Amino acid sequence: HKPRGKAARGLRFTPVAPNRADQVTVPEGYGQNVVIRWGDPILRGAPAFDPDRQSAQAQAGQFGYNNDFLSLLPLPRERGRQVLVANHEYTDEMLMFRGYDPANPTREQVEIAWAAHGLSVVVVEEQRRTGKLTAVPRHQLNRRLTLSSEFRLTGPVAGDRLVRTKADPRGVSVLGTLNNCAGGETPWGTTLHGEENFNQYFAHADRVTDPVAAARLKRYGISGGASERKWERFDDRFDLVKEPNEANRFGWVVELDPYDPQSTPRKRTALGRFKHEAAAPRLTRDGRPVVYMGDDERFDYFYKFVSSKRHMRGNSRIAHAHNMTLLDEGTLYVAKLTGDSPVRQIDGSGTLPADGEFDGGGAWIPLATAKSHGRAVSHVPGMTAQEVYVFTRQAADLVGATKMDRPEDVEPSPHSGKVYVALTNNSDRGKPGKAGADEANPRSLNKHGQVLELTEFWDRPDSTRFAWSLFLVAGDPDDPSTYFAGFPKERVSPISCPDNVAFDPHGNLWISTDGNALGTHDGLFGVATRGERRGELKQFLTVPTGAETCGPVIQDRRVLVAVQHPGEVDGASVEKPASTWPDGPGRLVRPSVVAVWRADGGDIGV
Ligand code: FEO
Ligand code: CA
Ligand code: CA
Ligand code: CA
Repeated sequence: HKPRGKAARGLRFTPVAPNRADQVTVPEGYGQNVVIRWGDPILRGAPAFDPDRQSAQAQAGQFGYNNDFLSLLPLPRERGRQVLVANHEYTDEMLMFRGYDPANPTREQVEIAWAAHGLSVVVVEEQRRTGKLTAVPRHQLNRRLTLSSEFRLTGPVAGDRLVRTKADPRGVSVLGTLNNCAGGETPWGTTLHGEENFNQYFAHADRVTDPVAAARLKRYGISGGASERKWERFDDRFDLVKEPNEANRFGWVVELDPYDPQSTPRKRTALGRFKHEAAAPRLTRDGRPVVYMGDDERFDYFYKFVSSKRHMRGNSRIAHAHNMTLLDEGTLYVAKLTGDSPVRQIDGSGTLPADGEFDGGGAWIPLATAKSHGRAVSHVPGMTAQEVYVFTRQAADLVGATKMDRPEDVEPSPHSGKVYVALTNNSDRGKPGKAGADEANPRSLNKHGQVLELTEFWDRPDSTRFAWSLFLVAGDPDDPSTYFAGFPKERVSPISCPDNVAFDPHGNLWISTDGNALGTHDGLFGVATRGERRGELKQFLTVPTGAETCGPVIQDRRVLVAVQHPGEVDGASVEKPASTWPDGPGRLVRPSVVAVWRADGGDIGV
């Protein structure tokens, strides 16, 4: 069948053509503005950004580097205002500092990088009539969390010997958060933040001789001698020989209460430790949160946590205190997916399923259960509960979970409850000695990725069984191995490397990309998930040279994206920039948050 006429409600815009422009390109009839950039002051006393007079102290009061996850939360008592929460995943010193010498960073540069990592909370304000969104500096809720801020470990690993260090012999208090990638929002008004590639910050794994410790480090990608940023020269905790447990204190899901600037963010150990991309909650019918989570690594796994405690409605102090314990008790599961038909090779890397659909069933395999007062039981023979939580990847290896093509962001549909998982790509699938294509990961040397749709049995998020199918198999629609939920391929935009996912108010899925392998820039796409236009995918915007598209937040009248690592191209530096977005020639390239709106003030895509 061929749907005619208008696109789905929410997706009625002229798609942006793939391009390589060093700018954010939006559909005709839409406007945009930069909401906030790396270095913009947000706290009282912070100076304006000055690329030649950067300091750690200034950076600690300014918006951080490489914005990724974004959340826009209501602020009902202040008209036209919302609370923006942003992750600052990592720093790119070559693009931050003039004359940066990667072999010999200075203490000041390292301390600026510590302050540029972490999280930001900043109140934003909409400008009437234009759709513009601008930051409100010095607002009382504005906050920076950096590598020097206190984070508390909670749940089954808090206090365990695996997380005790010289500076924190009780094993409960960590300085900072690292590599926060995507995240999620809870129904009780907090935000979740995934600590992803924390491995890169720890040095001297090559000097660890104990075979058990060495195998654990290797499984988490912690390898080699000096670290890329050489932080171990300035703080012993980044040296595995001097502080073997510090790395165990990263790789968690962080929970932040953005409405309380005095609160200490928590690292929720009951959700396991891996390269957390995102954490997306949904409530069971009796009000218990279930959190879906991906581990972004080639051949790693997809997980969920099911709380044993019910969410309490309202925002009284009692409800809030109760809700801040929901993610400390419950069971952690990993997904095993089984296809229902053989797949047939169609070209060098692609396959097609014999029954016409990439689909099948699956089971959630329990790994460990966390109980009150930090007690926990392991469901994995040969591992203690604490080992399961700290070395979750190894526990999942033992139970035979399905090796996926880099599970990135995940989002349950607020309308249907179906869970959408972005599997970004996997250049190693099918290589000698590596897992080959299966129905859920159907391409060898997978360059473009896919989006999986998971349906829990009886639509119960706490079910231990599910059905799944591939919603999209990404790429150029002319490539016979692509699939757009059955929608006619001549009428969709090309897409490659899905990373972040979000829903709009109409039930359409929006997908942002990272690493477009089709030769054009990354961008943001909307796709209908229901009805006769299901699978109709349209490109909404593209981002500048070298950038990935992150964060997306889709509201009725505004789309918000984080433009992460613009200008990050091999060999680029401050002296030899590949991008000068957003400030223009002669200025440093700056990761920034961008708002897009309809010029006539109407709703997005209607
Ligand atoms: Fe930080 Fe998996 O992207
Ligand atoms: Ca099938
Ligand atoms: Ca990501
Ligand atoms: Ca990514």
